[in-house]
Amino acid sequence: MIRISEMTAEDVTFARSLTDIEQWGHLEEDFQRFLEVNPDGCFVAWERSERLGIVTSVVHGDYAFLGNLIVAKEARARGIGLVLMKRVIDILDRKGVKTIELDGVFRAVEVYRMLGFRDKYLSLRFMRPASKGACIKGELTICRTPNISSILRFDRERLGMDRSNFLEHLIGTHPDATPSVIGRQGMSGYGVVRFRATGTFHIGPLVAGDTESASALLSSICAEHGKSDLTIGVPCTNTSAIGIVLKHGFCHRPPSLRMYRGAIRFYEDRVYGIISADVG
Ligand SMILES: CC(C)(COP(=O)(O)OP(=O)(O)OC[C@H]1O[C@@H](n2cnc3c(N)ncnc32)[C@H](O)[C@@H]1OP(=O)(O)O)[C@@H](O)C(=O)NCCC(=O)NCCS
Repeated sequence: MIRISEMTAEDVTFARSLTDIEQWGHLEEDFQRFLEVNPDGCFVAWERSERLGIVTSVVHGDYAFLGNLIVAKEARARGIGLVLMKRVIDILDRKGVKTIELDGVFRAVEVYRMLGFRDKYLSLRFMRPASKGACIKGELTICRTPNISSILRFDRERLGMDRSNFLEHLIGTHPDATPSVIGRQGMSGYGVVRFRATGTFHIGPLVAGDTESASALLSSICAEHGKSDLTIGVPCTNTSAIGIVLKHGFCHRPPSLRMYRGAIRFYEDRVYGIISADVG
């Protein structure tokens, strides 16, 4: 019989091992962050004393993002994925969450539709191979020391939702890799760059008030980290974002489908890079 429990610190190594098999590049710190920011929103599926699957969620007010749905290969097609999904959706509904989003792989889309999710847009993925080549220089001033409260306010005002708890933890863990950019009227964008277990650096979130600021940030990040492979995820609705990542030498990789359940929200105009496929 399958039993579902809340994820605890003791499950983190297992969770990370599942993401390793899928080559998603997660680190244990990613799961520790879920547990610190949203301790009752992540679950593990068990059969007797064996862990078989996981799912995570992060909540920003009445908005939640669901990710890391993985079932161990030998236990698939027995309904475990569905049980995990139903549990996490039930908890989020009880918390009063009005919108749940996820980035679904195409083979799973039918199941998500069955659970009430609808299609929103293609969530594009890009990769920039390691290179020594020069990149486009921006004209704006880049700050290297993050002013966390300004970043949290900027993010809240641009997206219309409060991601403070999560971002504070993320930026606090990566203070040396959170450049921000100053425009005519103060801060006009910020980004976070994180090392991944796949040996790449992932850029996200990258939020900016205008394309010039986003481009300046991306130039600065490519100049600093471009000797490694870089990845970024971009909502297909933000065509300016697609333009600048292509200009900076990024290439398309297979996308996923951004889906939502409940009230639809539009906040992507200023999103030049999503946080990641599992966090939104
Ligand atoms: C997606 C996944 C969690 C489904 O888990 P599962 O326990 O096998 O799913 P269930 O047994 O509950 O099956 C639910 C339905 O989903 C289908 N399904 C969903 N996602 C699938 C996927 N990626 N591959 C194959 N089948 C999938 C199953 O075939 C099944 O439909 P059916 O019963 O009509 O045949 C599992 O396939 C997995 O871990 N895949 C790798 C990680 C991944 O892609 N996660 C989804 C990210 S959005």
